Amino acid sequence: MTDLFSKFDPLIEQRETLLATGLTDPFNLVMERVESPTVAICNGKRTILLGTYNYMGMTFDPDVIAAGKTALDEFGSGTTGSRVLNGTYSGHRAVEQALKDFYAMDHAMVFSTGYQANLGIISTLAGKEDYIVLDIDSHASIYDGCALGNAQIVPFRHNDVEALEKRLKRIPEGAGKLVVLEGVYSMLGDVAPLTEMVRVAKENGAMVLVDEAHSMGFIGANGRGVAEAQGVIGDVDFIIGTFSKSVGTVGGFCVSNHPKFEILRLVCRPYVFTASLPPSVVATAATSIRKLMNSADKRAHLWENSKRLHAGLRQLGFNLGTNEPQSAIIAVLMPDLETGAAMWEALLDEGLYVNLARPPATPAGMTLLRCSLCSEHSSEQVGEILGMFAAAGRATGCIT
Ligand SMILES: Cc1ncc(COP(=O)(O)O)c(C=O)c1O
Repeated sequence: MTDLFSKFDPLIEQRETLLATGLTDPFNLVMERVESPTVAICNGKRTILLGTYNYMGMTFDPDVIAAGKTALDEFGSGTTGSRVLNGTYSGHRAVEQALKDFYAMDHAMVFSTGYQANLGIISTLAGKEDYIVLDIDSHASIYDGCALGNAQIVPFRHNDVEALEKRLKRIPEGAGKLVVLEGVYSMLGDVAPLTEMVRVAKENGAMVLVDEAHSMGFIGANGRGVAEAQGVIGDVDFIIGTFSKSVGTVGGFCVSNHPKFEILRLVCRPYVFTASLPPSVVATAATSIRKLMNSADKRAHLWENSKRLHAGLRQLGFNLGTNEPQSAIIAVLMPDLETGAAMWEALLDEGLYVNLARPPATPAGMTLLRCSLCSEHSSEQVGEILGMFAAAGRATGCIT
């Protein structure tokens, strides 16, 4: 019998070698208590959270929590059914209405996760004969959506408008074309040049889908994302998003103005063949989305935090993923996995949690410490964070 696990042997060995040095497992941390969007207890110790997607700090918002409790009392703990059968409650309709209002779009379809939203929309729109042109650094859920639909995949170099145009021009005349982009790329925190990319896509007869998972709530005058900030939201055919980041719960969605959009509810398998979100989740999401419409102050404070952390880390001598802060994500580049893991642990010992990220999640074989800021980080906390980076960086030899 061939052991089907043998393909994982290199990974098992790499992991065992790393843990044999006595290092804490960076992928197995437990949040023993969560006190706020920015503080948790880990290993019995107060830890500042700088590695969550809680960009707008909505997880502890009192209105959001109250909405969830009421829905739990009134509708129970789960729907036990698909959206197309018994799983559409008034709360599912209400959160779709909140999304339509938030984006000022005609249609909104809610999925059980953002992963499933990409999986479902991409695989349903683009089938075997169609072409998907996508940034090579696209999220796993985008690649998995392409694979599920069996479309022809044409990747282009990260954020390279010319490469996108060249690929589009090579696609046979008359073929269905979908360009898939992200507003913010989650590993380096860099933003896509959507203005040029959307123009090029449209000039070449392609539909455009933008995943705004990491920009919703924060980027753009109304928090609609990078497409809004760059003035091209009207030309984007589909926006994909998630409730697991700025919205502060779990779930995914697609919004669109396409007149035939609603048919997707009957043909999109990751929408049909799974249970819908629990009533408490859609109630918290709807409340959070409506509050995000009026969160200009939070957005301004989050930008302040991002700029200050970026400048401070650079001043300390760290190598960062972008020259300027472009989002709430700041990537601190590490020379290798061993150093990255040592720095991750030194930060945890200081009382700071960040994400250790490595291939295949990261581009170009990079290891990095991904820091994501929250609008609820106080200025004092950002100061504390910089102090912790200075101490851990010196202790591990990352900076002098
Ligand atoms: C760009 C992007 N799209 C989609 C997702 C999936 O979101 P969810 O957590 O809701 O499944 C993520 C999650 O990390 C993401 O980064």
